[in-house]
Amino acid sequence: MFRYLLLLAPLFTLLFCHREINSGSGRKAENNYKTLCASCHGPTVESFVQRDWKHGSSRLEIISSIGGNFTGGANHHPAQKLNEKEVQELGQYIIDAIVERKQKMITEGAPTNGVYTSQGMTVQLDTIAGGLENPWGMAFLPNGDLLFTERSGKLWRITPKGKKTEISGVPPVLVESQGGLLDVELHPQFATNAFVYLSYSKFRDSAGVQLATTAVRRARLEGDRLVEGLDIFTALPYSNTRYHYGSRLEFDKQGYLYISVGDRGDQDANPQQLGSDCGKIHRIHADGHVPSDNPFVNQKGVRATLFSYGHRNPQGVALNPLTGDLWETEHGPQGGDELNVIRAGKNYGWPVVSYGTHYDGRPFTQLTEKEGIESPKTYWIPSIAPCGLTFINSDRYPAWKGDLLAGSLRFKYIERIRLDGEKVALREPLLKNIGRIRCLTVSPDGYLYVAVEEPGFIFRLMPK
Ligand code: HEC
Repeated sequence: MFRYLLLLAPLFTLLFCHREINSGSGRKAENNYKTLCASCHGPTVESFVQRDWKHGSSRLEIISSIGGNFTGGANHHPAQKLNEKEVQELGQYIIDAIVERKQKMITEGAPTNGVYTSQGMTVQLDTIAGGLENPWGMAFLPNGDLLFTERSGKLWRITPKGKKTEISGVPPVLVESQGGLLDVELHPQFATNAFVYLSYSKFRDSAGVQLATTAVRRARLEGDRLVEGLDIFTALPYSNTRYHYGSRLEFDKQGYLYISVGDRGDQDANPQQLGSDCGKIHRIHADGHVPSDNPFVNQKGVRATLFSYGHRNPQGVALNPLTGDLWETEHGPQGGDELNVIRAGKNYGWPVVSYGTHYDGRPFTQLTEKEGIESPKTYWIPSIAPCGLTFINSDRYPAWKGDLLAGSLRFKYIERIRLDGEKVALREPLLKNIGRIRCLTVSPDGYLYVAVEEPGFIFRLMPK
């Protein structure tokens, strides 16, 4: 019987190859998916579309998971039957399928074709880039080109017409869990000095164990290359965890650079201990020097770059263009995400004071307020997992002018916050279901750009 099949094979090839040439590997991957994976993960990759990924969502991480490279994975994952190429094709198939489904959901979720209505504003999504791997940071060049990072370790320039070019010369980064190439920011006088700042997860080997930390690299942009790269800040100590890097970069009007660093998962050793850089917001000069008026500069055993402390994982930092104040959002434990105004030398409480609970529901601390500890301007229960923060100061969105926008990874929307001084006067959800929001920024010509992940898109909001 087998012999006859072999004899028939050339006939089949003749009959079908004209259809198979382009889509052969895609179709094979689709078949493999349907026979080996669909029973558990859904016939149209449902379980991956709205997922809190446990083992990572980059192409390489998905491919690694397909091979069963996670605890318990080897026992039941059926990919052992596949060869390496088939596993890679399957990984690409899943990513393509997620992108397709997601694009559909985004346009179908909105009333018509990417149009969203809020109190007093109607906006339409304009896709700037799609199919990205976890875009994390964005910064506009003076000529209107957008620089953006992908967490997987790439820096891109995209022109207003959509031409995308990779920028070389980025530092090697540790792409694991929440680590990778993270924020990007320009020097306030970029037009004359071309300095670009990148935050990233820096790593080193210690007796065979890989340790990681948050670092900031400054380099000059020369054409499509970064040159003269120099790490101007490296948070100490390094740790063997792979999360809570913080990593937002923001300049203020005086030209100080603020760097947020998460607690790296060690709430006892870091946020309240002033000898550690982690769980803090730091302030340095643009060349890395410590400002002489930093709050703890003369205190023994305290890090001189330290500006504020008691933070968990600050992933949204924005300068209020009117007052010059620095606003911040950070992830709470389970509930208790915070919106803060950051002031020199202040303690923001983690883990002494929190509105959050442990992931199993036990309260962290009975305290939600304490003398000597700054209270948040607002907090979120349940956690929205805030990431990305910006003020709207342009005239493009009249109904949102002056408002603070906070992105949510978990609930996939933007929260618009109307402030009355420092009080939260109104909160409205915008762009529901647009995707896990990673970064928000406003272009020099006043448009809001939104980076979402899993799968990665960058959208521009066009007022209608
Ligand atoms: C018998 C059920 C079952 C089958 C069949 C199966 N998986 Fe899984 N898969 C799981 C479970 C259970 C997990 C672990 C999820 C977790 O840790 O929460 C998982 C995890 C994964 C992950 C990682 C998800 C994450 O959150 O990081 C990927 C990717 C994946 N599977 C892909 C596949 C592919 C591709 C196939 C087909 C070759 C497949 N799986 C077949 C049950 C299955």
